[in-house]
Amino acid sequence: MKERLIIFDTTLRDGEQSPGASMNKAEKMRLAMQLEGLGVDVLEAGFPAASEGDFEAVSEIAAKIERSEVAALSRAVKYDIERAWEAVRHAAKPRIHTFIATSDIHMRYKLKMTKEEVMNAAVEAVRYAKSFTDNVEFSAEDGSRSDRDFLCRIFEAAIEAGATTVNLPDTVGYAIPQEFGDLVKYVMTHTLNAHKAIFSVHCHNDLGLATANTIAAICAGARQAEVTINGIGERAGNTSLEEVVMAVYTRPNFLPVTTGIKTDHIYPVSRQVSMITGIMVQPNKAIVGANAFAHEAGIHQHGVMNNPMTYEIMKPEIIGLSANKLVLGKHSGRHALRAHLKDLGYELSEEELNLVFTKFKELADKKKHVMDEDLEVIVTEGVLRTSDIFALKYLHVTSGTTVLPMASVELTINGRPVRDAGYGNGPIDATFNTISKLTGACADLLRFSISALTGGTDAQGEVTVRLRENGLIALGRGADPDIITASAKAYINGLNRLEYLKAHPTQSAQSL
Ligand code: KIV
Ligand code: ZN
Repeated sequence: MKERLIIFDTTLRDGEQSPGASMNKAEKMRLAMQLEGLGVDVLEAGFPAASEGDFEAVSEIAAKIERSEVAALSRAVKYDIERAWEAVRHAAKPRIHTFIATSDIHMRYKLKMTKEEVMNAAVEAVRYAKSFTDNVEFSAEDGSRSDRDFLCRIFEAAIEAGATTVNLPDTVGYAIPQEFGDLVKYVMTHTLNAHKAIFSVHCHNDLGLATANTIAAICAGARQAEVTINGIGERAGNTSLEEVVMAVYTRPNFLPVTTGIKTDHIYPVSRQVSMITGIMVQPNKAIVGANAFAHEAGIHQHGVMNNPMTYEIMKPEIIGLSANKLVLGKHSGRHALRAHLKDLGYELSEEELNLVFTKFKELADKKKHVMDEDLEVIVTEGVLRTSDIFALKYLHVTSGTTVLPMASVELTINGRPVRDAGYGNGPIDATFNTISKLTGACADLLRFSISALTGGTDAQGEVTVRLRENGLIALGRGADPDIITASAKAYINGLNRLEYLKAHPTQSAQSL
């Protein structure tokens, strides 16, 4: 029988450290439930000591999730460990994940601690965490650039102090697969009590090698992989869950492990992560990119028509990508909508379904075929974004070759209606200027991009914006059949996210 590879998902913690990817509490909860449905073994819900918002989100997730372990991150200090425990103590299966850096460069310049001080802090932290729960993970931050024998010593001491999982991160994405596999093998062989703990790896993607390094580590004996959906995370991101899981699934003869992931949930969860975070998946991304199963060259198309396995190593339906994406039209009823949303991974309450149904009918009046992507937009904009300060009520724009572009906008700010009009270089500039005037926002627009959500000239336009205000960065997304309205929605979504960041300052970015 094959050994189990533990899938430790950190989308809600390391993934949230992607620039601009902050999620509010309701969004995190929704995603946590999707991740549990996907079958992740461990769900790292956040870093409770970083902020009150993180603490509350982790506590709420811990109280709700039953099947996955819920982990909370903490530095190797008492206060963090207490906050972590306080947040996960009501979980069905709680875990405290404590870490300290072990590389010379981090110890000297960041921690300003000697090796022995780091060793003592690690042991004390694990012991303290162990006084709360049996399920303790210890991570040696920047492990791949640490002295190998020091790593063995600190892992041995952490296991002796009660750690049940020890994690070797490639924090800065520096490792090369063969080197990283050798390191894992070395550490597992030279840590005397290695057999008493699960060895884990956590890779970043700065050289585009996170998945390759994780696979090399699994071949060397690691039995926990720390991953995120779509590979989102700090800088170039983390190892992507879908890549590791599908490598294990597709190459069973080569990889000596199995996972408990329900692979047909992968695509719906991937879509939800991009809808919620505003981080779009690049089209050529492995497994979940829009082109991952598209065959452009005639010779490929011919082969795939005769036998899909000529050019497809995985069937699209294995990851939950239905071949028939055409879904509903204006005559479709509530039951069909509910059933289809369930297939997409959304279990809605009666009240939420009513809201989505109304919006669906409105869209079906404008657009003949309502596709999966359209439904996701309706659910995200109508149900998931719960605590918005600014909301768009009305937009009227005039523009053309002979008029000065002008926008009249009505918003609500915390439910109170406000309206104004303004000019700009073009219709989008006029709209953004007027929204800024109404909200008092002084955010810089760093990026603006627009694409079609589906095929066809009646497709909804999907806009993403990246905004910066006083060093805070937020992404916003919006979709609508009218691209100026889509732009306004994206801009307002970005402003709402900036407001959320202002209200929930977090230390996580500085402290990790
Ligand atoms: O990248 C890293 O080292 C981390 C640790 C906290 C596990 O995220
Ligand atoms: Zn990390």
